[in-house]
Amino acid sequence: MIIVLIGYMASGKSTIGKVLAEKLSYDFMDLDEIIERKEQNSISDIFKFKGEIHFRKLETHYLETSIMDQDKLVLSLGGGTPCYGNNMTILQNADQVRTIYLKASLNTLIDRLKNEKSKRPLISHLQTNEELTEFVAKHLFERRQFYEQADFTITTDNKALDAVASEILTSLNQ
Ligand code: S3P
Repeated sequence: MIIVLIGYMASGKSTIGKVLAEKLSYDFMDLDEIIERKEQNSISDIFKFKGEIHFRKLETHYLETSIMDQDKLVLSLGGGTPCYGNNMTILQNADQVRTIYLKASLNTLIDRLKNEKSKRPLISHLQTNEELTEFVAKHLFERRQFYEQADFTITTDNKALDAVASEILTSLNQ
């Protein structure tokens, strides 16, 4: 099985993914890290010098190669991955893949993102908390339809990492 974690920026995909992989003795991979390693370039610089469209093509390419011939893997995606190209269809058509949407409230996301803007090119230009909140609220509204296609949705607000990982395991075993 390949467990794919999806959700908005700062929803905890990588942090929870590592805990889950540890519990299952699976490998853990993060799609942004794969892209940075293979391209020898940071996500910020790919956006800056090659543009978002190029980044989205890389994202689809490395998503496909990362799930090919794999088993016992937890893979966390970028916040936008499920929302572009045919990425959600690729995941739904892969028999061994189970997708989990990590759903966090707007308040939780803003609380985390306000201190983590610099590495995230889509929000790094937003100056005030009001601008950030307005952007994220609209963006989440547009993206929700993709996230909600996941096999399972787990809400994460005010839950310990371990509790979220256990809930994911329970949903997968049902
Ligand atoms: C993006 C999310 C980022 C990264 C890129 C674009 C997005 O990943 O892939 O900056 O479109 O939401 P995280 O969700 O890990 O921040």
